[in-house]
Amino acid sequence: LASIEVDVSSLQPGMSLTVKWRGKPVFIRNRTDEEVKEASAVALADLKDPVARNANLAPDATATDLDRSAGKGKENWIVMIGSCTHLGCVPLGQAGEYNGWFCPCHGSVYDTAGRIRKGPAPENLAVPTFAFATDTVIKIG
Ligand code: FES
Repeated sequence: LASIEVDVSSLQPGMSLTVKWRGKPVFIRNRTDEEVKEASAVALADLKDPVARNANLAPDATATDLDRSAGKGKENWIVMIGSCTHLGCVPLGQAGEYNGWFCPCHGSVYDTAGRIRKGPAPENLAVPTFAFATDTVIKIG
């Protein structure tokens, strides 16, 4: 399937789900306001990978929390390919030092915006092309 539509109406803040798209897991998370606040406060200089890696933005967009998220007004939403940028394992959600994602294969730690913070992975988790089709449906691809 080139694109899929996912009903996210049941995802309360703090909840996440994983769907399959083009044979890969895609993580969708509705972050809490507190998580967004914390992730937004991180300086770009403190990031291992300062590039947004967001297919919806220009290639040189920076990895601010906003540009990793679904954008203005939808900052709580994160949509990412669930494939560790080290060697492709599937990271575990709501885990690790930043309560983002933790890759059990070699210990890469991602924050709640999917930005690599520790460990061997070189890049932030990739954000695929997606958009809100309605307030509660996300179209991926
Ligand atoms: Fe994730 Fe190596 S594959 S840390």
